[in-house]
Amino acid sequence: MANVFEKVGEIKERIIKAINDAKDLNALKLVQETELNKKSEFNGLMSHIRELLGEEKVKFGQMMNEARSAIQAALAKKDEELNNKLIEQKLASEKIDITLPGYNFKVGGINPFQLIIDEITDIFVSMGYEVKEGPDVETDYFNFERMNIPANHPAREMQDSFYITPTTLLRTHTSPAQAHAMDEKSGQPIKIICPGKCFRRDDDDVTHSHQFGQVEGLVVGKGINFGNLKATLELFLRKMFGEKREVRFRGSYFPFTEPSVEVDISCMECHGKGCPTCKGTGFIEILGAGMVHPNVLKMSGYDPNEYSGFAFGVGIERVAMLRYGVDDIRKFYQNDVRFIEQFTRK
Ligand code: DAH
Repeated sequence: MANVFEKVGEIKERIIKAINDAKDLNALKLVQETELNKKSEFNGLMSHIRELLGEEKVKFGQMMNEARSAIQAALAKKDEELNNKLIEQKLASEKIDITLPGYNFKVGGINPFQLIIDEITDIFVSMGYEVKEGPDVETDYFNFERMNIPANHPAREMQDSFYITPTTLLRTHTSPAQAHAMDEKSGQPIKIICPGKCFRRDDDDVTHSHQFGQVEGLVVGKGINFGNLKATLELFLRKMFGEKREVRFRGSYFPFTEPSVEVDISCMECHGKGCPTCKGTGFIEILGAGMVHPNVLKMSGYDPNEYSGFAFGVGIERVAMLRYGVDDIRKFYQNDVRFIEQFTRK
């Protein structure tokens, strides 16, 4: 009868090994179905109890119970192990790796034309100026007449433009913004700048473009004098080009100002000694300015005996070229990413 006892031990070991070897829950289920069904070899062993007597019968019963418990325990343990493994695999496969670098969007730079407008605007806004914008398409009346440049005036020669109709044109300068501002404020004090585009029938070369930008400035009030003009422009130019810059005023002529000046800054390359950048003069011309002409005030409804003012016009590309060392004005308009990318806001 020792056989029956051995058999129980053997079968138990075999089943437990099969359980432990199961690679996944399906394999485990298969072991359970084949080895532990009603007709399985293990369950068949119970029939031997009839062949045993007395103590042996009891011992066999105990052995079968122990074997069943051991098998159940192995099954439960394996089942838990495989379930845990499955959860771990799921977690690993569904994990979001937040250390992955994000998508890279290529960001271009801001066109230096705009950077300079923003910088000039910041300086004047900090001095209490309002920002106005004028139309790109102007009437002859505003572009010339109101700027004290009547028909047949020789100053028109330098500012040929693109005409939309015989009396409307792409504005040749931002100065007509002065007349618009005076019309709008009708007799009240004014302190404005107007940045914008201008157009002229120039042949394009490294310093000329048929389209370019200017920032116009106008201050009108009671008792405004040339000292105010000088202090304002010196402050602006030193903020723009550095505290050490020397600023020089030269007498000049513009139809809409009297007296008129051209303003130069000391050359940033040679600091006034003279070099190819400043053509040996030590200075670089930067803007035009002057006291608003009495005719311009009168045409705009301001009494020149009561009111006075100053105005200035600065070329945006010229400032940008000097600030960034750009050698060709056409680069601002060619939309070449390699050029634009080099500039970013500070
Ligand atoms: N409008 C002038 C031009 O385009 C620039 C200018 C000069 C503007 C003197 C002004 C000024 O306001 O006072 O050449």
